[in-house]
Amino acid sequence: MDFKFLIYEKEGYVSRVTLNRPKVLNALNSEVFDEIGRAMDLAAADDGVHAVVITGGEKVFAAGADIAEMATADPVSVYKFGETAQGALNKVENLPKPVIAAINGYALGGGCELALACDIRIAGESAKIGLPEINLGIFPGAGGTQRLPRLVGAARAKELMFTGDMIDAARAEKIGLVNQVVPDGEVLSTAVKLAARMAQKGAVAMAMLKTAINQGLATDLASGLNIERQCFSLLFATEDQKEGMQAFMEKRKPEFKGR
Ligand code: CAA
Repeated sequence: MDFKFLIYEKEGYVSRVTLNRPKVLNALNSEVFDEIGRAMDLAAADDGVHAVVITGGEKVFAAGADIAEMATADPVSVYKFGETAQGALNKVENLPKPVIAAINGYALGGGCELALACDIRIAGESAKIGLPEINLGIFPGAGGTQRLPRLVGAARAKELMFTGDMIDAARAEKIGLVNQVVPDGEVLSTAVKLAARMAQKGAVAMAMLKTAINQGLATDLASGLNIERQCFSLLFATEDQKEGMQAFMEKRKPEFKGR
């Protein structure tokens, strides 16, 4: 599949999506969001992909939605943009495979929101993360008002969004916005290694696990526990469950087949 603003690559069971609009710090216009959604469709449909890493390269993750595109937009076109952006990020969040954001440099506005839609965030020491939209007379419109409070709590999320201030990687790790901070030069390799480890697990169990967690977070505890029980019991119809438990008893490594 041809992409204008992304590079889509595969290594082993891990696919890597690199935002590629360096002149404008990977600013996310509607086309970029559309391509991110299409890259997720590609990863979802490919049984040879078990995990995904999203990166903006070594200098910048993404400096947000494309302000030049938005500056003169009217409410109807912004509503459409929101559908495209939220739709793409929903695909990232709901991909039934782990998605890891590898963050170097700025992850601002829509860039931060893209990272928030990923399951796990690895940041470089000099990364700068924030939702500065309030300084533009708007607020985050690609999921930030909803995903950030769920991740770090309402008070911290409000502080970030009300001030529009950027925080450094150490602070982001402290408040749980990123999982791990590593030297700048090791961000991508750390993310890819982690993705490759996850890619070795049983793909059906991983998909069900992600579904149980995500759907559970979107509902009340009793309904979430019900979802967990249904997904959990379904796994006992898979060969991977039999292989995993048999391998344990035979004291060997399991060979999962994703079925
Ligand atoms: N949209 C469009 N172009 C952008 C951009 C963006 N979000 N961010 C940077 N650029 C462009 C700049 O206009 C500049 O282009 P020119 O060379 O043609 O002038 C180029 O990228 C390099 O940027 P700077 O010269 O500004 O680089 P810097 O190192 O001095 O500053 C920065 C870096 C602090 C990230 C600064 O570029 C910046 O503040 N960017 C905007 C961040 C922002 O406000 N993001 C939120 C966007 S709105 C949003 O995301 C809405 C939503 O929720 C969906």
